[in-house]
Amino acid sequence: MTTNPPPLLIDRFGRIVNYVRVSITDRCDFRCIYCMGEDMTFLPRAQILTLEEIETVCRAFVELGVDKIRITGGEPMVRKGAMDLLRNIGRLQGLRELTLTTNGSQLQTMAGELKSCGVKRINISLDTLNETLFKQMTRVGDLNTVLRGIDAALEAGFRRIKLNAVILKNRNHLEAGNLVAFAITKNIDISFIEEMPLGLVDSHDRAEEYYSSDSIRADLERRFTLLPCTENTGGPSRYFLVAGSETKVGFISPHSHNFCGSCNRVRLTAEGRLLLCLGNEHSVDLKQVLRANPTDLGKLKSAIVGAMQIKPEKHEFDLAEKPLIFRHMSATGG
Ligand code: 5AD
Ligand code: SF4
Repeated sequence: MTTNPPPLLIDRFGRIVNYVRVSITDRCDFRCIYCMGEDMTFLPRAQILTLEEIETVCRAFVELGVDKIRITGGEPMVRKGAMDLLRNIGRLQGLRELTLTTNGSQLQTMAGELKSCGVKRINISLDTLNETLFKQMTRVGDLNTVLRGIDAALEAGFRRIKLNAVILKNRNHLEAGNLVAFAITKNIDISFIEEMPLGLVDSHDRAEEYYSSDSIRADLERRFTLLPCTENTGGPSRYFLVAGSETKVGFISPHSHNFCGSCNRVRLTAEGRLLLCLGNEHSVDLKQVLRANPTDLGKLKSAIVGAMQIKPEKHEFDLAEKPLIFRHMSATGG
């Protein structure tokens, strides 16, 4: 008889951590208004983890029972060597699922190789299908390049691709229905995300442009029938199936914290800080542990196990206040 080993990463509230989101760069080729200021300063190279260091941290996590890793950024595909890193992580024994979050700008040329590296699923950011609005929201991105990227990912054989749309009132809230219709024609899924107060942004007032998941859902229900799904990812999403299609629509409501009880994840920033909660600053500096003990995986593993003791019970976000969290999503890893 085989028995599964006991979970090694467990926090003070009995939550098992089996999922890590890893930001491999804070850099991005877009400048989305909800994510960055126009003149973003990126971290100096020496401050971010090397590709080898990232791989080592991933290995430590997998040896500690983590079976799902999501690679994020910034835009992960702008980091030189990202593909080799993905290939190496994809080979880790015990990893069940390697996934990627991307803005889609490089997918046209990279989708096929991503598939062969063992990436199982891709999330692609897409906030609108209107070219002008896309340019306004990303400041520099090109809609058609991303659309071609989505097609390339489908051609490469990726299934259940998920679009992520951040919805801002009076900017793109009227786009939600068209995005769902697009997802249905491509037979893919889509999640709508409420803007989170991560880092300072300079283009808009977040409280004024807040558009709740409930409002998006009410808008969509005038055009589609949404059937509740029972699926739970341990994250802040609630899913619905669009009747008559295979498309699932998710609503990510970070302002509600009723999902914290089932949180199964932690995040590694590009700088090598292990963040225990998206909405709190509790963290452990794994870069320091790595660089002080470059050949000792045991030290790294005990630092990770120890970090579970400071995983906060829940987060609090308040849009009316200045952000409590000064790091941007690009440094945090969506
Ligand atoms: N609030 C909510 N979502 C954000 N993203 C980036 N910044 C924010 C923010 N402040 C989203 C991106 C991407 C995902 C990784 O995070 O659009 O889809
Ligand atoms: Fe880049 Fe994603 Fe931030 Fe947009 S949201 S600037 S694509 S990291």
